[in-house]
Amino acid sequence: MHYTGTMRISDKGHLEIGGIDSVDLAKKFGTPLWVIDENGLRDNCRRVKNAFDSHGDALVIYASKTLSNMAILKIVASHGLGLDVVSGGEIYTAHKAGFPMEKVFFHGNNKSVEELILALTVNVGRIVIDNFYELNLLEEICEKLNIHGQEVYLRITPGVDAHTHDFVKTGLIDSKFGFTLTDGQALKGVKTALEKEHLILAGLHCHIGSQIFTLEPFQHTAAIMMKFLYDIKQDLGFEIRELDLGGGLGIYYFAGDEPSTYEKWAETIMNEVAKQALELGITKPKVIVEPGRSIAGPVGTTLYTVGSHKVVEGIRKYIAVDGGMADNPRPALYGSKYSAIIANKANQTADELVSVAGKCCESGDMLAWNVNLPQPEAGDILAVFATGAYNYSMSSNYNRLPRPAMVLVADGQADVIVARESYDDIIRNDRLPARLE
Ligand code: LLP
Repeated sequence: MHYTGTMRISDKGHLEIGGIDSVDLAKKFGTPLWVIDENGLRDNCRRVKNAFDSHGDALVIYASKTLSNMAILKIVASHGLGLDVVSGGEIYTAHKAGFPMEKVFFHGNNKSVEELILALTVNVGRIVIDNFYELNLLEEICEKLNIHGQEVYLRITPGVDAHTHDFVKTGLIDSKFGFTLTDGQALKGVKTALEKEHLILAGLHCHIGSQIFTLEPFQHTAAIMMKFLYDIKQDLGFEIRELDLGGGLGIYYFAGDEPSTYEKWAETIMNEVAKQALELGITKPKVIVEPGRSIAGPVGTTLYTVGSHKVVEGIRKYIAVDGGMADNPRPALYGSKYSAIIANKANQTADELVSVAGKCCESGDMLAWNVNLPQPEAGDILAVFATGAYNYSMSSNYNRLPRPAMVLVADGQADVIVARESYDDIIRNDRLPARLE
């Protein structure tokens, strides 16, 4: 098993996180339960920041779509990271959490007028413009609100294939995101942005995908973008000072996954930018990166209670847990694999092959196929690892299941940072027209 952060097996043979027995956590807070290892999270923030800082002028911004709530953002901010937000809701959360808004970068391929006004009102540091429509729209809004000097980036689609799942690839030419580099659209975008009276073009952005294991695509992307900076200088006489190369570093989920490290990722990107700057004779830009999954993913564990089971003779044994695709849609959506153990039998031999089903009413609601566990029984606590990224943030009330609680654990202390939803929460926004009463 691949334990990270403060996870260990206690003398009792139970999974322990943040110095607390996970079986006690399940008893106290109920299941399903998202458990976040605070010291693991802080460690990831420190490590990624140090890795980039040690190579020069860089800013690491946490991609809040991965996992966002007030407590998580407070922790991220305390380590000096910036923030990537993609919606009014993410901006609002950052603002309410007291995040330094000058370090907040607002992304998105279809930001609404209301979202852009909110971003301007709370003074987000950079607005990352995705297309010509938005470039004109933001200029108009700034003019109306008499705002001068909003710093913006343009999102560029560099055309790099990052060898990841089709749905999470974003840098390819045929993508809904950004100004296409190869057909002159990007250069035209830069020229247009420079002509806007109320906007300051501070930098360029790109993001090639997520859950990427090899570093070549990052190196390749850095080289392509640096060449574009050179072209801009040649054609328009303008020097781009900030280069945001997105997120995407992969993590370990399942046997066979071989992720890289922050240190190697930083070295690859920063060295390539420095090398290209020297060769092309342009000023080395400040580098921004936007990791999400690698910061929050490994530090999250979901605890479930095992319930029913079913044996299909000669085929497989299903065990079912009290959550599923409503709290973790990734297996159903992307075919993602996860590692799991029985938290109360963590030191027992995993000698029974089972498939773990969720409780939602559809066959695709499976959390894991063919995993070995130590004779799972009703009442056991199943711990699924690396669920910190894109689980809570993509969760739903499918089948009207209330969302689980989230607890933050550190040094023997556990605090609820997201309350468990109640049945009243489930009907909170329902309205009954008088004629139905
Ligand atoms: N920056 C931008 C512009 C992004 O679109 C993303 C992720 C990131 C940064 C962070 O990438 P990361 O370091 O987390 O790989 N829901 C999918 C992942 C979608 C990723 C979307 N963009 C999943 O569950 O795998």
